[in-house]
Amino acid sequence: MRADVFRTLGDPTRLRIFALLAREELAVGEVQEVVGLGQSTVSGHLAQLRAAGLATARRDGAHTRYAAARPEGHDALFHLLTADPLPEGDALALQRLLGERTAPTPEGLGSDYLPGRSWEALARMLLSLLPPLRIADVGVGTGHLTSLLAAGARHVIAIDRDAAALARLPPSIERRIGTLEDLPLGEREVDLVLISQALHCVAEPVLTLRKCLDALAGGGQIAVLDLAPHAHAWVRHRLGHKHLGFADLAALLREAGFHDVRQEIVHVDRRAPAFTTVLAVGRK
Ligand SMILES: C[S@@+](CC[C@H](N)C(=O)[O-])C[C@H]1O[C@@H](n2cnc3c(N)ncnc32)[C@H](O)[C@@H]1O
Repeated sequence: MRADVFRTLGDPTRLRIFALLAREELAVGEVQEVVGLGQSTVSGHLAQLRAAGLATARRDGAHTRYAAARPEGHDALFHLLTADPLPEGDALALQRLLGERTAPTPEGLGSDYLPGRSWEALARMLLSLLPPLRIADVGVGTGHLTSLLAAGARHVIAIDRDAAALARLPPSIERRIGTLEDLPLGEREVDLVLISQALHCVAEPVLTLRKCLDALAGGGQIAVLDLAPHAHAWVRHRLGHKHLGFADLAALLREAGFHDVRQEIVHVDRRAPAFTTVLAVGRK
């Protein structure tokens, strides 16, 4: 037991900030927005949480993003502290903030801007057309996509090695801690596997794809979103990528045994660092 951990959490504001960071990785300004305190106060609390090993900081472009961390040997305490729901005001403020984060700005949509249109609204419309499938979402990240899927699916299984990412998901989603290298999925367990921006984190993507094939029922589909080849080597140490994009995702799917494989470029980001996104789809 470390006294500094308890001393740090003994302050109600720090406890509140810690609970927020256990749900979502946030920049200082975002924490400020939820807790309604000034920048220097929030920065001070974040520094103390970091010093006690209760938060991590990650540089993301112009921002530093903070997430809750569990100090070694305090797993039980971490679970206890994150088991309670957030106070209602904080939960609503966080929800609003996340909504604003994902809503495209007029600038972001460029000449395509239309009042009232957002990528989430478009995604929800398209997802509403899916039959009620059993879906595995592998590598959930913020969980935004996973949560959207839950609305119309028969069952959603979220898989990630990061327990905190899984903990953020709504309760209707089944969470499985596991790795892409050793997927915790049974044979023929799902009708659709989604891997969005996670396959580049494994050294041997074909092995992961083969396991996905096993996990699919006959006729089931896989959809992989990933990056086209790029030269941003910083993604290796900053984001844990093992591949700087994929030259031919479709070939990897075929090698793993998928049929009816097709791929296309679905997004070209014109702003630096200007990644290109590729979608590859295949059938068992
Ligand atoms: C960039 S996020 C994916 C975001 C999400 N799928 C989306 O498109 O919004 C990558 C996720 O994959 C997880 N991840 C990375 N490598 C992994 C591995 N080898 N096994 C399990 N999960 C992994 C990370 O914890 C993270 O949640």
